[in-house]
Amino acid sequence: MVNAKGGCGKTTVATNLCAAYAVRGQAVGLVDHDGQGSGAYWIAQRPADAPLVELSGGGRLAPDRIVIDGQPSSSAQAIDELVAMADVILVPVLPSAIDIRAGERFITALMTRPRFRAAPRPIGVIANRVQHNTAAQARLMHFLGCLNVPVAVTLRDSPLYGDAMGSGLGVADLFDVRAARREMTAWRALVDWVEDQLPAHADHPRPLAAGRPSADASRGIPAKARSVLGNERPVAPAHPKSPRPQRLSA
Ligand SMILES: Nc1ncnc2c1ncn2[C@@H]1O[C@H](COP(=O)(O)OP(=O)(O)OP(=O)(O)O)[C@@H](O)[C@H]1O
Ligand SMILES: [Mg+2]
Repeated sequence: MVNAKGGCGKTTVATNLCAAYAVRGQAVGLVDHDGQGSGAYWIAQRPADAPLVELSGGGRLAPDRIVIDGQPSSSAQAIDELVAMADVILVPVLPSAIDIRAGERFITALMTRPRFRAAPRPIGVIANRVQHNTAAQARLMHFLGCLNVPVAVTLRDSPLYGDAMGSGLGVADLFDVRAARREMTAWRALVDWVEDQLPAHADHPRPLAAGRPSADASRGIPAKARSVLGNERPVAPAHPKSPRPQRLSA
């Protein structure tokens, strides 16, 4: 998750992507690479009964997927490091003129680095904080149409994201919240998009380790989140492509 522009949603997308993978039953690790510790903070806040996301590095699991919350830097060194680490590159972009310009410059800088040209990776733009049917949305979509880079997903501008972040949660955890359920389609689509881009050597999802909390266990919002997000009637998650997490017998 990268973009030289600060505040475009790198940490928000990284943490939500981790939650989306965890809810699917995949072992997922988050690398906090942005120096502000926001990703580590999110993990520290994550309720014990939510599907596990580990801070990558000191974990017990060998994650199926690792999500890197990148730093807001466009230095050549930062880009080269990133290219060396990532199989898929996601660039969140906000719909303001300044953000669009910065996003364009960053993606151009990325794609013209010799390291990247020697071993190109799939890049997807995340159109973030989009309010549908606005001039800003039209501007962003026009820019994205001009760039030869696909839009991996469009995310709404919603207070859910800030609330979920403070509770160590992602939209995918919030089966009980109607507004989150509307947004879950986007997260399923993003996971599917990333999976489609991964190189052939990426493993198939493995079942969770014994004793890890399952999505069933977290179907209700953890108590901590309930206090933040309100309390609505639980609805079962449904994702035809996503097997429920399984427990391994010992
Ligand atoms: N889709 C969204 N809807 C509403 N608010 C959002 C959305 N995405 C991000 N935000 C909010 O925007 C702010 C910045 O997001 P975030 O911290 O994820 O950006 P960042 O790119 O990681 O920033 P930095 O460059 O400082 O690391 C946060 O307050 C976050 O809650
Ligand atoms: Mg950040």
